[in-house]
Amino acid sequence: MNEKFENILRKMGKSPISQLTAYDYPTARMLDEAGVDIILVGDSLGMMVLGYPDTTHVTMQHMLHHAEGVVRGAKNALVVVDMPIHSFDTPELALENARLLMQTGADAVKLEGGTAQEAAIRAITAAGIPLQAHIGLLPQKVKEEGGYHMKGKSDVEAEALRKDLEAVIRAGAFSVVIECTRHSVAAALTKISSIPTIGIGSGHGTCHGEVCVFHDLVGGFPWFVPGFVTPGANISGEISRAVNQWKCGLLLP
Ligand code: KIV
Repeated sequence: MNEKFENILRKMGKSPISQLTAYDYPTARMLDEAGVDIILVGDSLGMMVLGYPDTTHVTMQHMLHHAEGVVRGAKNALVVVDMPIHSFDTPELALENARLLMQTGADAVKLEGGTAQEAAIRAITAAGIPLQAHIGLLPQKVKEEGGYHMKGKSDVEAEALRKDLEAVIRAGAFSVVIECTRHSVAAALTKISSIPTIGIGSGHGTCHGEVCVFHDLVGGFPWFVPGFVTPGANISGEISRAVNQWKCGLLLP
């Protein structure tokens, strides 16, 4: 295990682990220079960068292309690359595609799913490839589930999430994202987890760290902002202002 992973594990339970998405070189470099612990080349790039309605349109080619730029910009942060939908349909395919993603120079891969993906996760980690798991709301299931729904709302769902957590730990994940899960359930999962939990839309302070989509944080995708995000900047407003100022300048002699 290299220093980047040791840093994440050292922080677990002591200070919050920070994870942000980036899909290109300049963003990755800015986040890296700002001291973010983990940079995620998320398949959310399907919406944030490519204009698709959800992540089910994202392919391995997209992920490889964007991961290469991010890796060039990140010197200190741990770079995790998402495995797109259908790229881990069987354990063999999962390993083949994880290897391709790691060839970009990334430090780890991430995939969505708990108990259902235990074999795929094990195939990847057994080959020495670090993997971040992802449980709770799984955006790649948006079509099957008819939308995005909060998880852990019943005792049955909470118990299924506990089993998911145990499965990904057993399969060798080094960390786990817990997305849009009832806050008390995310906190309970964190309590029993032997690996760092990283929350998103699962309540503040309920996990060992938090992950945020970069565009949501900086106001870079004004057409939709999830309710659980408080943007820290208004980049789209600044772009409009600068473009309008520049256009007005064109009228000047
Ligand atoms: O693709 C992504 O940005 C993600 C985060 C929501 C965790 O998976």
